[in-house]
Amino acid sequence: MVGAGYVGLTTASCMAQIGHTVIGIDVDSAKIEALNKGIIPIVEDGLEAITQQMLATHRLTFQLGYSEAICSCEFIFLCVPTPQDEDGSADLTYIRESAKSLSPYLASNSVIVNKSTVPVGSTLVVEEIVRRDDIFVVSNPEFLREGSAVHDFLNPDRIVVGSSNKQAAQRVADLYQSIDAPIIICDPASAETIKYAANAFLATKLSFANAIAALCEHVGANIDDVMQGIGQDKRIGNQFLKPGPGWGGSCFPKDTRALVKIAESAGYDFELLRGVIDFNEIQFDRIVNKVRKAVGGTLTSKNIAVLGLTFKAHTNDLRDSPALRIVEHLKSHGATINAYDPTANESLHGINIYKTAIEACASADAILIATEWPEFASLNPTDLGKIVRSKHMIDARNILDADLWKAAGFTYQGVGR
Ligand code: UGA
Repeated sequence: MVGAGYVGLTTASCMAQIGHTVIGIDVDSAKIEALNKGIIPIVEDGLEAITQQMLATHRLTFQLGYSEAICSCEFIFLCVPTPQDEDGSADLTYIRESAKSLSPYLASNSVIVNKSTVPVGSTLVVEEIVRRDDIFVVSNPEFLREGSAVHDFLNPDRIVVGSSNKQAAQRVADLYQSIDAPIIICDPASAETIKYAANAFLATKLSFANAIAALCEHVGANIDDVMQGIGQDKRIGNQFLKPGPGWGGSCFPKDTRALVKIAESAGYDFELLRGVIDFNEIQFDRIVNKVRKAVGGTLTSKNIAVLGLTFKAHTNDLRDSPALRIVEHLKSHGATINAYDPTANESLHGINIYKTAIEACASADAILIATEWPEFASLNPTDLGKIVRSKHMIDARNILDADLWKAAGFTYQGVGR
């Protein structure tokens, strides 16, 4: 398993859990040292326990860099980052570098499995770098959500395997034999497209939910009821319909932009997806405007308590976090940010970080809930009412009981409520 990030680490430990022998490889020596002691650098439900159990069985080991150990591997999974290039396209540097570094160690008949999210055609790129007839390259995209990655690995909705070589594809599919899920075997371009299309569809669903929330505010409807009403239609489905501050994280923003670029390079203007991305920027502005409205029209010199900084709850990941995007807007309009997050408590430029929600709310002119951490739902409005400067609540995740906060004297703004 090449790359011990969110995807590589989860896949390594879970592959060991379902019976395989796995070597996790990374170029970061401190990370490898910690991993071999069973210490994992991310907040991921159940992952540390599985990693420790698998280390104890010796089916899982971690090692620094590429070495002879790879010669004994039948499958080499690439789980390296594909960051966003300046123009929005996916940067394949790490894929190319790892494929090149691996080549000398590959045993005949082994299969390189691409798990990283890569532009359509990247399976061919790896084949061209390796240039050996006795090595196969297969696309096997991941659909793991941060925070429930272990659960998602062991209980997937489907497994996708793309290859131009049927036998190699079947060998990869067989690795998942003990998992009960439909397996889709297709050509590599389709497998690569499935990954992007899934994330683009989910992002579209969320932008749609946020747009309906905006409409609800205009027509006096309640988004919670509206989403329940449409979600009961099995063709729509009741998941991924929660409005919020806009979508973010390490995947949706990067993958949607990359898909627009992939389409553009192939001569197709993916207008719909461009709209979905643009709308998400508008959603950040809408939340900023709610805060501005609450504090009387100007943010200059106002204390804003921001509860939650991670891109969603149950992770410590700040990458492309909507909370941080909104904080940047608030700061640029002159607001002072006093923030609290249960996991993201390192210092962040221009933000005062506190150890508790209560401390962050002291002397606030308004409170903004930006991430749906469960502990925020049980905050006591009467207690907070005594320490803030003005009683204004902006609940960008719709997790509070509006009536309770209004009864305690707060103004309340949710999203589409
Ligand atoms: C996403 C996909 O859900 C995974 O299937 C995929 O494998 C992964 O990207 C990836 O490409 O690696 P993840 O980035 O962990 O997973 O986050 P999600 O749970 O999908 O949430 C993305 C964003 O949407 C977050 O900002 C979240 O707060 C927001 N969201 C999600 C909502 O605003 N409302 C919802 O109902 C659901």
